[in-house]
Amino acid sequence: MASLIKGRILFSVRQSPSLPTVEQQDAWWREAVIYQVYPRSFQDSNGDGVGDLRGITSRLDYLKHTLGVDAVWISPFFPSPMADFGYDVSDYTDIDPLFGTLADADELINKAHDLGLKVIIDWVPNHSSDQHPWFLESRSSVDNPKRDWYVWRDPMPDGSPPNNWLGMFSGIAWEYDEGTHQYYLHTFLKEQPELNWRNPRLVSAMHDTLRFWLDRGVDGFRIDVAHFLMKDPEMRSNPPSGHREADAKDRHHYDAQQHLYDHGHPDIHGVHAGIRAVLDEYDDRYSVGEIHESDWRKWAAYSGTNLDQLHQPYNCSLLWCEWSAPAFRAKIVAQEESLPLGAWPSHVLGNHDEARLATRYGADRARAAAVLLLTLRGTPTMYYGDELGMRDGAIPPGEEQDPWGQQYPHLNRDQCRTPMQWTSDGSRGFTSQDTTPWLPFSDTATTVASQVDEPDSMLTLYRNLLDLRRREPTLAIGGMTMLSSSEEHVLAYERQLDGDSMIIAINFTQKEQPIEFSREVRQILSTHAERSESFAQVTLRPNEAVVVR
Ligand code: GLC
Repeated sequence: MASLIKGRILFSVRQSPSLPTVEQQDAWWREAVIYQVYPRSFQDSNGDGVGDLRGITSRLDYLKHTLGVDAVWISPFFPSPMADFGYDVSDYTDIDPLFGTLADADELINKAHDLGLKVIIDWVPNHSSDQHPWFLESRSSVDNPKRDWYVWRDPMPDGSPPNNWLGMFSGIAWEYDEGTHQYYLHTFLKEQPELNWRNPRLVSAMHDTLRFWLDRGVDGFRIDVAHFLMKDPEMRSNPPSGHREADAKDRHHYDAQQHLYDHGHPDIHGVHAGIRAVLDEYDDRYSVGEIHESDWRKWAAYSGTNLDQLHQPYNCSLLWCEWSAPAFRAKIVAQEESLPLGAWPSHVLGNHDEARLATRYGADRARAAAVLLLTLRGTPTMYYGDELGMRDGAIPPGEEQDPWGQQYPHLNRDQCRTPMQWTSDGSRGFTSQDTTPWLPFSDTATTVASQVDEPDSMLTLYRNLLDLRRREPTLAIGGMTMLSSSEEHVLAYERQLDGDSMIIAINFTQKEQPIEFSREVRQILSTHAERSESFAQVTLRPNEAVVVR
């Protein structure tokens, strides 16, 4: 029998003595559960097989009333040649016709607000599309006034690229331009040239794109690869990592270098403070940055020591966490310890770039993961379809859509982007009956319709958890104490607020795990069947997660 013992105390913002601002304490995003929608895949309203804004608008009632989330983050829907499905933006202030019109965006924002839902949109400031008019101008000649809006450099004397920086998708991060005899930088596809955040005119133009959406009422931005905006001004080559040879055909070629100079230059904090200042011109807005940074101290610095930069850096570390209690505990504590005083953690277990949660961990563990995501101290972000336990889809060879997958089929991100499954008919309620969706459905069985009234379904578990969070401020905004257990396979923590306390215990194994609480408790929720009696000892079933009081 393992007894749960109080371990490290992790304070809540409300309990912390030195708070930066009163607004920060009451900010909506601290209590909110965010739901990510990949717009191509949520709901098609016009029968072309691709999701769109009107489709999303028609499903807002589901998000608010059936599921019960607080905010929706929509991946890019701006005009784009779709080389990276919208992460290559050719106009930051309009809507791609595939997704609708600005009037559709206004309708979506207004309806969301009428329902009490916040709207977060994706902002892609590191690179534009190579078809953006700014880049077309920039590329037209070396003296074009917009030349310096992107990152151009002369070739080395032998004609080779200016340094050794690698592209994330493949090969070298430089593309030679025959017309002007210079290279331009692109960390991702060559169709995604890097914007130059050291140019004040570019900065001001990008700030205006934020204001455009803030004026239309969006509540916040998810900032794409927010750690990439500032590179070494001297453009020094990266040293080798020693892990492997830089082979452009190898998916892991990127790991061949220590990425000292190609992103995260300290000047980046000035850029984020500037972005934050724009958001602070408006009431109650929010920013969350996609920051892949394994050094927790550097990662946390993106909030600013005075909490004057990003409202939150995304904590992506749980996405790749090995399924074990010690591994999760270490990452949860590392985030808490690294964040500046008064900052609020974030948690994410699925997104449009990673294998589906239920595929990574399996269906039973995905239930336990749902409890973890929605009961940890911090703002959780859910990925559409995870509330059903949707699994990765099978993409027939040759039908890959994702640019990354076309180079490395085994890494295709299409699998986690298959359309949402509303009903079990041929079109799954996603598109019209006779239309082939842009990606195949992942299966026939996993649908909203089949789960919504099913007491043991994944959807019911998520609905119950979301309902519980709404009813229990202790879970939404309380402090957190990690509990140590002599049984290392159980992750346990206590949430506290104003004298109230709830304990969450998660069995990370396939075996039963008996545990003992320090007092008599009552079960509030379980991934498995309910226990009616109160108890001081309980045997957790394999992969069971419980919430007790
Ligand atoms: C981010 C996005 C990913 C995209 C990349 C380039 O990592 O999440 O989907 O391909 O940035 O914009």
